[in-house]
Amino acid sequence: HEPVATVEPQSNNRRLVLFPLPFQGHINPMLQLANILHTKGFKIIIIHTDFNSPNQSNYPQFTFVSISAGLSKSKDGSLNLDTSNYVINFLNKSCIEPFTVCMAKLLELEPVTCLISDAIWHFTQSVADSLKLKRIVLRTSSMSCIPVYAAFVLGEKSYFKTTIKEELELMTEKDIEEIHKDRSEKGNKELILYVSFGSIAQMSEAEFSDMAWGLANSKQRFLWVVRPGSIYGSQWLESLPKGFMEEVGERGRIVKWAPQQEVLAHQAIGCFWTHNGWNSTLESICEGVPMICSPCSYDQPINARYVTDVWKIGAMLDEEMNWEQTGIAIKKVITGKEGSEMRQRSKSLQEKVNKSMQKGGSAYQSLENLVDYILSI
Ligand code: UDX
Repeated sequence: HEPVATVEPQSNNRRLVLFPLPFQGHINPMLQLANILHTKGFKIIIIHTDFNSPNQSNYPQFTFVSISAGLSKSKDGSLNLDTSNYVINFLNKSCIEPFTVCMAKLLELEPVTCLISDAIWHFTQSVADSLKLKRIVLRTSSMSCIPVYAAFVLGEKSYFKTTIKEELELMTEKDIEEIHKDRSEKGNKELILYVSFGSIAQMSEAEFSDMAWGLANSKQRFLWVVRPGSIYGSQWLESLPKGFMEEVGERGRIVKWAPQQEVLAHQAIGCFWTHNGWNSTLESICEGVPMICSPCSYDQPINARYVTDVWKIGAMLDEEMNWEQTGIAIKKVITGKEGSEMRQRSKSLQEKVNKSMQKGGSAYQSLENLVDYILSI
């Protein structure tokens, strides 16, 4: 939801180097931040790895510089992302030299005001220090994860430990207060379920099969993104259970990738079955779409807990549920009373988020503060 620059903004003659981690859930927010900073007059240079390079044609206003990540892909062009933690550790070593050389070359050409790197690029602080460059990190996960991680890692020493529970309770009360009761709902018959598990998550054939039968059993219309390579041992849909397509017929559509933000903004979408990556969670909130939550790993369980227990705009799918129970749970969110209440709360949260991005709102102000800070460097 970044502002779109229709005219070239007045330059402030400052150059910023941005360095996203090469995964979609990290690339998207970094490019959105880059767009915002570009509208404030900064010149933007994006350093990216040759693995999962961003689509440059969408960003003619930026300068892109590629560095080698030292990763080799398998024959079908994919990496085994089962090992995404391993990949991240690997990249934090393999990119040190190419990144340092690239940064030094850029500095030889013209001054750079600061480096904005993904927080998971751990090595970039020492590179920035060695080049006497300020570094700002972009965390692409929810702010709520910071106190939770800190409590886990630091235990008793953590300042946040005692505040988490209070924070959760406080937010619950505040959010429930503002439910709008007078909204006209879209006719339930039109609603479609959108299903997507982000850009990294993978699942077993058995999980995939349960998902498919859960969808079939819900009897709802759906659009399902199944990324090639996201089912262990399959290229794409080979492990789709026999008879599934015949069972769902015209009700369901499976695609390899979808323009997610546009899909969520479509009036036919009544619910998002998600793994609760932070981008997916935010995009759903920004469009006022309630969620069915199947968190996998990383920050996702925490995001899902906020969605279901704090903001109450989604239902958690229990891992123990069989496909029949899953189908019933999906149907409830799309057509049931509980789902309708979730939809109302989602709309209310959407309004709050929209307000926070307008002049005087908290997100708007945070970005203004960030720009002021960068200009003060
Ligand atoms: C990862 C982590 O898993 C997530 O928990 C963390 O918060 C960010 O990094 P990922 O799993 O890919 O991200 O999920 P998510 O954060 O939801 O990001 C996926 C992005 O890809 C979203 O912006 C989504 O709009 C986009 N996407 C996904 C599409 O545009 N089309 C698709 O078909 C699928």
